[in-house]
Order: sequence, then C-alpha cells, then structure tokens
Amino acid sequence: MEFILVDPQARQHVALIRLNRPKELNALNLQLMGELRDALRQLDEDEQVRAVVLTGNERAFAAGADIKQMAGKTAIDMLLADQFATWDQIRKTRKPIIAAVSGFALGGGCELAMTCDMIIASETALFGQPEIKIGVMPGAGGTQRLTRAIGKAKAMEMVLTGRFMTAAEAEKRGLINRVVPVELYLEEALKLAEEVAQMSPVAARLAKEAVNRAFETQLDEGLHFERKNFYLCFASDDQAEGMSAFIEKRKPRFKGR
Ligand code: CAA
Repeated sequence: MEFILVDPQARQHVALIRLNRPKELNALNLQLMGELRDALRQLDEDEQVRAVVLTGNERAFAAGADIKQMAGKTAIDMLLADQFATWDQIRKTRKPIIAAVSGFALGGGCELAMTCDMIIASETALFGQPEIKIGVMPGAGGTQRLTRAIGKAKAMEMVLTGRFMTAAEAEKRGLINRVVPVELYLEEALKLAEEVAQMSPVAARLAKEAVNRAFETQLDEGLHFERKNFYLCFASDDQAEGMSAFIEKRKPRFKGR
C-alpha cells in the first residue's frame, strides 16, 4: 500500500486506516481509492476486526478527488473509467466505520466521511462540497448524503456556493456525531470504535444494514427490513449470550456467531 497505512489491531478488535498523501492533502487519486477498497475488503473478512476507524492527518482528512488526475479527462474517459464504482464497494463494507476528521474534508473527502457510519471531528475540521468552484459538482454521493443529513436548504447552499461548514455547525446540523479538541479527535473515534467492538458483531452488522436501509427505501419497506433483521438476531449465539448475561448480571462474551 503506497497511499494508506493500515493497522488491523490499533485497539482490541479495532482497525485503523490512515490516508497517507499528506503533501497533496490526501487528495483521493484512483490508486489511493483502490487501496482503500482492498484494505476494507480484507478487514471486513478479518474475524479479529469488529470496527474500523478511517482518518487522515491533522491538516486534512482529504481535500477531495485528485483534480490533477481528472483535469484532462473527457466525459467518455470518466464514464469508461467509472471511478466511483470503487466507492460502491467501500459503501458495502459490513463492519461499522468511523471517520476521524481533522482539517479539510472537501469534495470527495466530505463524501468519503459521509460514506462512513459515524463522524468524529476535531474543532478545526471543515466540511464542504466546493466542486462548483472548479466547474463540476459532487459525484460520489454528496448531493444525496449531505441533503439527507442537513436538509435541502443548507445542502443546496453548500453545493451551489461551495462554502465550507465548520465542525461546530456540522455538529449542530447533525452531519457529524461530535466535535472534540484537535488533540483528541482520533482518540475519541478509537474509543467509540472500541465501544462498538464490544457489541455482538452479528447484531452490529444487521443493525448497520438496517439503519442504512432508512436512506434507500420508503418507510414501509425499511420497517419490514428492520423487523426481519431483528428476528434474524435470534439465530445467533450472541443473542442468547447477550440476554443471558443481562439476566445473570454479568458482562456478555460475544463471539460473532
Ligand atoms: N486534488 C489534487 N491536488 C490537491 C487537491 C485536490 N483535490 N487539494 C489540494 N491539492 C494539492 C495542491 O494542489 C497543493 O499541491 P502543490 O503543493 O503541488 O501545489 C497541495 O495539495 C496543498 O494544497 P494548497 O497549496 O492549495 O493548500 P491551501 O492550504 O492553500 O488550500 C485547500 C487548501 C483550500 C483545501 C485547497 O487545496 C483546495 O481548494 N483544494 C481543492 C478542494 C476541492 O475543490 N475539492 C473537490 C475536488 S473534486 C471532487 O472531489 C469530486 C467528487 O465529487 C469526488
């Protein structure tokens, strides 16, 4: 891996992926996105991993898709390369992913953070979809996920003006989980991941899938999907263990079965 660093056991059952093109503010070129897809696929298969934290560095989570790599492309080049197909595979990661964001999360960087399941931000984080300023528009889910997260009026403003949103505003509007001082954002994300990793991995997978359905379906279908996954939990040993442990007033020992 050239552009990302992977620690599969940063904490117990928690993997850490760091985007690592610091000079280019972690601009997301095709190779980096391919590496990220491969790493997530591997971690998704790794039984020791129950949650993943995705981070950049203090100055930038990621400043967007690599403009230099895209600048000379035609529409047909873009269509045939279909670079965002990689993102579909990232979206399909079954384990919970928490973005730890500091500094710039712009364009594809904001979209990547929103593709994760939760976002912890440092107080220096800036979120934005500034593609309009370079004559294009968001292409990796920004118009959809931002609108669902913060509502039409604010999303429209960000997409049409390219203006950035501070971490404090992003928290107020429900785009992110919380803001912490810059020296704590990674630790806070790792702690949150550790908390998730203590739960039943079976239940976490089914629950993540069901929450995501809220974005993809009408209420009726979403409720039906949730109910089916809830019933499915009862096919797992973790359900029996979790409920017994509660009744016996002890900590559960989840096995992911
Ligand atoms: N692609 C390629 N290179 C980038 C980049 C990007 N998205 N963002 C920053 N860089 C590079 C800069 O070109 C610069 O490289 P050089 O030192 O070789 O010149 C280096 O990173 C540092 O950047 P700056 O000197 O510009 O740093 P700054 O502090 O002055 O500004 C910034 C920071 C405001 C984030 C500015 O870099 C910027 O506006 N970046 C582009 C943001 C953007 O438009 N993102 C959307 C991209 S399109 C997209 O993402 C489509 C999609 O939907 C997936």
